[in-house]
Amino acid sequence: MTTRNASQGILADDNAEQRARIVELLTKSYWMEIETVMSYIANSTNPDGVRAQEIIESLKADVQEELGHAQAFADRIKELYGVVPGSMDFKAEQTYLQPPEQQTDIVHIIRGVIEAETGAIEHYNLLIEETDGVDPVTQDMIIAILRDEEQHRRLFEGFLREYEAEGRA
Ligand SMILES: [Fe+2]
Ligand SMILES: [Fe+2]
Repeated sequence: MTTRNASQGILADDNAEQRARIVELLTKSYWMEIETVMSYIANSTNPDGVRAQEIIESLKADVQEELGHAQAFADRIKELYGVVPGSMDFKAEQTYLQPPEQQTDIVHIIRGVIEAETGAIEHYNLLIEETDGVDPVTQDMIIAILRDEEQHRRLFEGFLREYEAEGRA
């Protein structure tokens, strides 16, 4: 008895082209999450000061969530017959999340986090569009991750508002 290929859905031979496109977008998502993990580790460790503690705690928790996202993207790449890339393919892009000159400069970090989350929100909205009617399983996964990023962004927007209200941002 021969093994049948999937005849329906994103794993079907007929959908190879769309599948390749989705794997490409998932790979970009994977790298974005990996870089966010690096940036959030640094920025949840470097800050000094009483007021930094809330940011430190929040970013430390986010590191685990972003790592979970990276692993979810890796799993989905594999399920779609892709290969999770090696570290030599990594290209850093988060210029805005480099350590500030002063480690008490919390506003720099808050703005950087908002920028990173906004970039993720934009990319995941694109993925939701590209998978619509094509790959509902990937779309479902992205929708759940998108909610996490929206929560992260909203939380840091609140932090920024506080600093702005005090004239510190
Ligand atoms: Fe994430
Ligand atoms: Fe996030």
